[in-house]
Amino acid sequence: MTAPFVSASKLHLGSAYYPEHWPESHWPEDIRLMRAAGFTVARVGEFAWSSLEPAAGDFHLDWLERVIGLLADAGIDTVLGTPTAGPPAWLTQQVPDMLAVDEYGRRAQHGNRCHYCVTSPDFHAAVERIVGAMARRFGANPHVIGWQFDNEYHTVCYCDRCRQRFQDFLRARYESLEALNQRWSTAYWSQTYSAWEQIPLPVGPHNPGLMLEFKHFITHSYRQFQKLQLDALKPDLPAGVWTTHNFMRWYDGYDHYSMSADLDIAAWDWYEGMGHHDYLSTGALHDLVRGFKQRNFWLIETQPGNINWKPVNPILNRGETRAMAWHAVAHGADAILYWQWRSALGGQEQYHGTLVNQAGKPRPFYAEAAELGRDFQAVSPLLAGSEIHASVAMLNDYDSLWSIQWQPHHSDFDYVAHFTHYYRPLAALNVAVDILSANGLSGGADLSAYRLVIAPALVIQDPATVDALRKYVAAGGHLVLTVRCGMKDPYNALLPQYQPGSLAEIAGVEVEEYYALLEPVPVQGDGFDGASRLWAERLTLTGSPEARVIARFGKSNGWLDGQAAITVNSYGKGLVYTVGAYLNEEAQQELLARVLGAASVATLSTPPGVEVRTREQPGQPPVSIVINHTAAARTVSLPWASRDHLSGAALAPEFELAGYGVMVLTPMEKE
Ligand code: GAL
Repeated sequence: MTAPFVSASKLHLGSAYYPEHWPESHWPEDIRLMRAAGFTVARVGEFAWSSLEPAAGDFHLDWLERVIGLLADAGIDTVLGTPTAGPPAWLTQQVPDMLAVDEYGRRAQHGNRCHYCVTSPDFHAAVERIVGAMARRFGANPHVIGWQFDNEYHTVCYCDRCRQRFQDFLRARYESLEALNQRWSTAYWSQTYSAWEQIPLPVGPHNPGLMLEFKHFITHSYRQFQKLQLDALKPDLPAGVWTTHNFMRWYDGYDHYSMSADLDIAAWDWYEGMGHHDYLSTGALHDLVRGFKQRNFWLIETQPGNINWKPVNPILNRGETRAMAWHAVAHGADAILYWQWRSALGGQEQYHGTLVNQAGKPRPFYAEAAELGRDFQAVSPLLAGSEIHASVAMLNDYDSLWSIQWQPHHSDFDYVAHFTHYYRPLAALNVAVDILSANGLSGGADLSAYRLVIAPALVIQDPATVDALRKYVAAGGHLVLTVRCGMKDPYNALLPQYQPGSLAEIAGVEVEEYYALLEPVPVQGDGFDGASRLWAERLTLTGSPEARVIARFGKSNGWLDGQAAITVNSYGKGLVYTVGAYLNEEAQQELLARVLGAASVATLSTPPGVEVRTREQPGQPPVSIVINHTAAARTVSLPWASRDHLSGAALAPEFELAGYGVMVLTPMEKE
């Protein structure tokens, strides 16, 4: 873990606020209502470029200073957004070639957002100017506690400039065309390049090496763009004022670890949209974002009941969003901000959920947010500065995600679904998980704090990662390798070896063949009865005296009948499991319960739908957050009597938790 970084001295609650949509006379009442709901933070300025700089170089920053002041008078801190996701019309008119071009060659129109080409030098100059002006005016403002760059980076531009930049990027990376041709196997279908200018941007399926490098190029371009903003801002920021970006869960546009490297904290936007969330899976979303910086994060946008962009936009049940907010805090969020405060009269999002309506009057949902405001006020002193301590790590790798996404080999095989399939059994047993970058291990990340490491579908294999995993297991760690492990090199080319590549040494096993499945195949072993769906790998032991088969495939296509499906090997002081099956839920739960037991990871059984998570900090009792994610009451049994700091009640080990109920507990004996 990196050094603890405290983004706030309290648990924050608030919302996105766009005062530029309204006459100034409306602001005091908005802010009075925020304060009455217990809000402590507002996110302002994002998308306000045309109000902040209505003409080139003509800055109108006073209104923003007045808003920040009014918020501060109400005890509300400000997070400022750089407005770069909304380049104004005067700018796009002046430099039309800053508008992004899509893969079919169509230039973006003005009037939506994120319509910029991320490599445009004219756009960059305008960005430096507005961010610099905001930095000089607000950088040292004591009420501005953090800055968010842009909004949900996502546009990919296919203009001629981007194509040339991509070629320059490749030239710097490969140095010679011979190297590139060799890495990409370009003799295949006569793709061989004899000049850098010949290399295209991929539209649709393309050479796997080129496709992977294009993702690296997008990551690089956005990181440069973010760096440009950071450089314009940082000189004016006092110590402790942080920077962030609002990411989108498993969005696959770029490598989030690289994008987060220059930021102080990670933040994300959680929208369920239609239907209800399943906490066994959504916990992974929070843990993913916590893993971008390996520290607490901000839930910087979430839905106040309903959104507006799905085919049907139902409201979440009464109490459900409060439980969701606590779910985020239980996984390391230090702040919850709703999007947005007040319905604008116009613009593209008129029907989105808000806290107050277009008349400025509280909507029914406001009462639920206010309840959360009271919660946070009650327990903020207990939770501020606390962190999650996990004894299990899962490795995530964007290169592997892309590689599988482009060639799934089975249309239903999805990297994220498979990853989540390993996460859910842990969540059901209330086991905390850190989600780490597999690539990050090459930087020497320390795995020794973990009893168990799971590497789902780590198809791309980096020698440094192999080395880190070998050392981890040799020193006593338990490692789970899964299907689609160790098949390709970092250029997305097949390794000239059996799977799992160089991990075979510690796995004591090789994959002789892999099979996409139309029908599930039985998987049976000692006290183990399940089935593999979508995928199966035929494992052979490589002669390690310690290796043994846990389960075998039953009768199916003849090739798999009786072959090893799941194995375990001792290596050094540790264990390596190889799971050549994509098990059904029940069998997966059973397998992982065994694996957790063997690794001595503490688990806690709770009724279906009830989650218990603990945050800790030195010198204080651990704080357990208990959440009922269902609408029905549940009886919960904990190993200790406790005090609930939301209600003040003393609780016996067994207690009743109302539908969508939340408790924030410390053990009684520690009082
Ligand atoms: C987010 C976006 C917000 C708002 C919200 C609506 O993706 O960052 O600005 O548009 O969606 O759900």
